[in-house]
Order: sequence, then structure tokens, then C-alpha cells
Amino acid sequence: MIRLSPSLLSADFFRLESEIDEITSGGADFLHLDIMDNHFVPNLTFGPIIARAIARSSKIALDTHLMVSNAEPLIDELLEIPVARIAVHIEGCTHLNRSLAKIRSHGVAAGVAINPSTSLSVLDEALAWVDFVLIMSVNPGFGGQSFISESINKVARLKTMIGQRTIDISVDGGVSEANIGALAAAGAQTLIAGSSVFGASDRRLAITTLRKTAQRCVQRT
Ligand code: DX5
Ligand code: ZN
Repeated sequence: MIRLSPSLLSADFFRLESEIDEITSGGADFLHLDIMDNHFVPNLTFGPIIARAIARSSKIALDTHLMVSNAEPLIDELLEIPVARIAVHIEGCTHLNRSLAKIRSHGVAAGVAINPSTSLSVLDEALAWVDFVLIMSVNPGFGGQSFISESINKVARLKTMIGQRTIDISVDGGVSEANIGALAAAGAQTLIAGSSVFGASDRRLAITTLRKTAQRCVQRT
């Protein structure tokens, strides 16, 4: 099943309520929240205060992506909200097993995010503890960057590593109509899309087109 998670990073922050309503009624499965600390990545966004406000006023499930050096205190706050998914970066998390176990113990989907230059081999142990892997197809930090095409092969290799386990493969960064079919055919199931959804004048149409393109390619494989 293909799931779409538009990234709020590309939305108009002056009109958050209507932006979120538009993608919710447009059929998005999640709202992706990019939490950045200007340390792990060279950008600063927002944190649990905004996530909590969105959770209170909207019905969409929240898909949180922590791009921070010290994830632990933020995980605790996000679990209180609560959100649907939390991804922590393998490059920034010292006690990954503890963090993932805590997320799962609250019934929240636990994910590990991996940068474009990080080898899949570092996931050998962690695959036993995750509900999803978030393959970064851009260097984390900003929306609107160009898709790194090697990510398609990385998704295919991850699918082989996962084997029979039920672990979702998510992809984040530069996802568009041009590459979503190949990603889905390679095994990606949850596609995060910022500029290709919020940058479109008709968000419903953008979500529908992305989903249909992905589904068509899954069926062919
Ligand atoms: C990048 C973020 C992404 C980003 C995606 O660091 O993690 O979620 O917002 O935006 P696009 O789809 O525009 O690359
Ligand atoms: Zn993200």
C-alpha cells in the first residue's frame, strides 16, 4: 500500500490551518513534520509546541522526523502529544536501541532515518527494532532540493535486507512525479513530498497524481 506524507516544510507558515486542511481533505495519509535544531542540520524549524498545536486542531496523523543532535527529550515530548510516527537519525542517536524501544512502548511507530552517504550496513542490528526506515534522498536540512537518484537502488537493496519482516520503507527528499514510480517499484511504501505537494496550486490533484503514479508502478512489478 502506498502512503503519502506531505512535508509541512514547504507550506505557507502564515496559513498553516488552511494548508493542513487542504492536504487532509486532499487524501494525504500523514502530515510530515521536519524538526531541525541548527546543529545536526544547518537549519532551524519548529518543535513539539507546533506539533502539539497541530495535533489539537487537525485530524491528520503526524509523521515526525527528528533532525537533531539530542533526540531523547524531544521524543518524550512527542510521545505525550501523541504522534503516529517518530524517525530518529542513525547518525545522530547514540543510544538508538533505547530510543526506538521507548517510541514503540507507547504504541507509536519507530523509525530510523539514514542520510544519503550512510551505508545500509549500519542498519544490520537496528532492523530488529524498527517499524520503518526513512531513506533520505537529499541531504537533510532543506525542502526543494534535487533528488539523489542513487536512492532508488538503495531502496531496492533495503527491501532485500528486510526480507519477510514487516518494515515500511519511507523515502524523503525531492520526491516527485518523475521518480515516485521508480521508488515504489523498488519497494518504497511511504513517500514524503514537500515541494511537489505544497508547491502545487492544486494539492488534491498533486496527491492523487503522485499516488496513482506510484500505485501503477507497484502493480507492474
Ligand atoms: C529535508 C526534509 C524533507 C523535506 C522534503 O531535510 O526532511 O522532509 O521537507 O521536501 P522536498 O520534497 O521539497 O524535498
Ligand atoms: Zn523529512
